[in-house]
Amino acid sequence: MTKPQKPQSNAMLKRAHDNMPLGVADSYRYWGEENTVFLSSMKGCTITDCDEQTFVDFRLAYGPIILGYRDERVDNAVIDAITTVGAISGFSTGLDSDVVELVKSLCPNIDKMRFANSGTEAVIGAVRTARGFTKRNKIVVVEGGFHGLHDEVMWKSDVDNWDASAEEAPEIIPFGGGIPQSTREHQVSVPLNDVDAIDAVFAEHGKDIAAILIEPIMGNCGSIASTQAYMQKLRDVCNANGSLLIMDEVKTGFRVAKGGAQALYGIYADLTTYAKAMGNGYPVAAFGGQANVMDTISFAKDGVTHGGTYTANMVALSAAKATLTLLKETNALETIANVGQKIQALLSRVFTKFGVEHCFAGPDAMFGVHFGSEVPQNYRDWKKTNSDLYMQFALNLIDNGVMLEPDSREPWFICEAHQTIDLNWLEHVAEQSMSAAINVQ
Ligand SMILES: Cc1ncc(COP(=O)(O)O)c(C=O)c1O
Repeated sequence: MTKPQKPQSNAMLKRAHDNMPLGVADSYRYWGEENTVFLSSMKGCTITDCDEQTFVDFRLAYGPIILGYRDERVDNAVIDAITTVGAISGFSTGLDSDVVELVKSLCPNIDKMRFANSGTEAVIGAVRTARGFTKRNKIVVVEGGFHGLHDEVMWKSDVDNWDASAEEAPEIIPFGGGIPQSTREHQVSVPLNDVDAIDAVFAEHGKDIAAILIEPIMGNCGSIASTQAYMQKLRDVCNANGSLLIMDEVKTGFRVAKGGAQALYGIYADLTTYAKAMGNGYPVAAFGGQANVMDTISFAKDGVTHGGTYTANMVALSAAKATLTLLKETNALETIANVGQKIQALLSRVFTKFGVEHCFAGPDAMFGVHFGSEVPQNYRDWKKTNSDLYMQFALNLIDNGVMLEPDSREPWFICEAHQTIDLNWLEHVAEQSMSAAINVQ
């Protein structure tokens, strides 16, 4: 297999090194001196780089693209809003309630909502609201979960450097420099699907726990999912201890079902965060929940403060209104699930052909691929999978025009426009890529 040459992309990275640390606007976009991707355009389910290689994209900007890139139904709604109303005013418009009412029609867990500009901001708002409501500080988080780039949640379970045969839990380390130790003071980590660990944490800290913050399906950890029983346990333990359950649906919301992961479990959070699929790529986010909890946001002396200059701007809300309307009124999510199933089936045929033990985690719209015999139940289990083989397979796919994150902790994202791809071509490319990956191993 020959690796495509990237003279334009490499020249762009050289230029960008003079302008940005690592030559990129987000550190995770730096894939090394030879492989950092610079795009010239995106359309449907494809992206084209500056060297004119087009890829079928399963990365989808880490999940926001749910319909397809440059979906005219959404883009035209945005153009209409900004040319007939304006982009931002620092005041309210009726669009605020239009979007909240749409969300409420899809998500019974939402009575009231507030907007944000990113998933990170939505999580900050939800956690602050939970603390204001409960008058407690501690937050329980799950190993392998990701909740954005704000100091308090930038602590991770160091499974990469963990000895899986050891008795000890993986070390909890900061994402890097600049994160004060004090930001960990109010946080406790538990492994997913471990009921005993939750009982132990509540036995020790129960009266101090403001909330459990969890991605029900870990969109940043190979779509490893909470079991039904574990989710019920979290709901029950929160109820019993006066703590809130915050479900971070930044990746799962409006993607895995119209009502997000909560619709799949039938178990509802007190507070929920949304972003990504909500705006088909436009930067919109939100958090919301029960009215009595959300009304903690107030001008009372101990009321929670929330807002921001760009909150509920017209670009974001017009995109959200159009996207949510389409998701509500069309069968886009059924189409996505259907394509996702077909892709898993073809991948499974390829893996079986090469004798690679494999399993899929999570829903069809964002499934994780794991090389191992059993679906991981938590982040520690992921360590037992053959993620090196996955990475080699993924890098070969990229060379062959299929874009995805080379790390198996990032799921395959499907959008409505993927219904147009040639599945025979994808199967052929997957075969070539696995054959070459096995030869490298
Ligand atoms: C579950 C979850 N929460 C929060 C975030 C942070 O969102 P953003 O990157 O928009 O700040 C992400 C981003 O991937 C996420 O997946």
